[in-house]
Amino acid sequence: MTKTEPDGGIDMGITKQLSLALACGLAIGAAHAQQIDVDTDWAYAVRSQPADGPEHSLPGTNESYTRAEISDIYGPVDWFPDSHPTMPDIVANGRFPKVWACALCHYPNGKGRPENAPIQGLPKEYFMQQLYDFREGRRASAQQRKFNTNTMITIALGMTDEEIEQAAEYYSSMPWTPWIRVVETEEVPKSRTILGMYVPLEGDAAGMEPIGNRIIEMPEDVERVEELRDPRLGFVAYVPVGSVAKGEELATTGGGKTVQCNVCHGQDLMGLGLVPGIADRSPSYIMRQLYDFQTGARNGAAGALMQPVVTNLTVEDMLNISAYVASLSVPE
Ligand code: HEC
Ligand code: HEC
Repeated sequence: MTKTEPDGGIDMGITKQLSLALACGLAIGAAHAQQIDVDTDWAYAVRSQPADGPEHSLPGTNESYTRAEISDIYGPVDWFPDSHPTMPDIVANGRFPKVWACALCHYPNGKGRPENAPIQGLPKEYFMQQLYDFREGRRASAQQRKFNTNTMITIALGMTDEEIEQAAEYYSSMPWTPWIRVVETEEVPKSRTILGMYVPLEGDAAGMEPIGNRIIEMPEDVERVEELRDPRLGFVAYVPVGSVAKGEELATTGGGKTVQCNVCHGQDLMGLGLVPGIADRSPSYIMRQLYDFQTGARNGAAGALMQPVVTNLTVEDMLNISAYVASLSVPE
């Protein structure tokens, strides 16, 4: 199952071939670079996950897997294979070395996590256009330190047009279903981040802190979501008290600052024609997109239509709008 992690033991054959190739000044392909002696891991300060570590399972399945299998970049575990259509190879396994399996970050069902993007049920043409925009340098993150948007760009650059169409066809075939629970609150659990996702602090460090002008999204269950990538358990989004009503006012009337979202995103904000759905999707993702449009970091083919929407919005307005659209309920 695991194709990324070395499974221990030195392959003398390969090692000899490598030294020979090096001595001859030959270029070593990326595929060879995978054959790393685990005993050198300390020098890189990396920890290899044991391929045969303890097995984990989830409610609703009898299968169990190791952590390495669950987060295998080129073929992560598909916990519920009967719950979605057959994944195209590029979605399930990616393609070494540049294209990581889409299912790793966006899950086989496309629900995604706050640090990446909800891609289930997006219109097919819109989906394809985003990958072209990433490729052509028309879609990046305004935040340079958001490393995984750069990973997404590398992935789009590595994909063929055919693979782009296959992935778009697959994810657009599944309609969006309920995922985000919005809670207005004065205080949020103190947290740390793991690769772009907030998780509550534990033990002596645990406690509450003021939410301030922030939206903090956390997994409903840290172990099941963060560690085991349960594609059935979503996120709770803590938002400031009053933000949903303020966002609703702007989103439904324009408030003299913006344009009503339903004109283009559909009456229920579930998408209309080529325009993507935004209801009940990760509010941190929505916020990043609004800000990316405003700063121009995202200026793809259809991005001009979003310019009059965002130009006059403050950061707080965008936060309120994100809280509102995430709070909308969608059909089961
Ligand atoms: C390393 C994690 C990762 C993997 C693997 C990954 N993506 Fe992404 N994807 C992201 C991130 C991060 C974003 C952008 C989030 C942001 O900028 O806020 C994104 C955004 C997208 C979007 C834009 C969604 C929208 O609503 O506009 C699409 C489409 C997409 N990815 C498709 C794919 C496909 C197809 C694959 C597999 C070939 C894939 N991704 C693999 C992390 C990933
Ligand atoms: C004039 C039409 C129009 C209006 C009005 C409009 N949008 Fe959009 N929106 C679009 C189009 C078109 C896109 C796709 C842009 C692209 O391809 O980059 C988009 C994209 C988005 C995205 C990115 C979605 C994703 O999956 O990445 C968000 C978030 C968004 N709009 C939010 C809003 C909100 C909130 C409002 C109301 C305050 C709004 N839009 C009003 C046309 C519109």
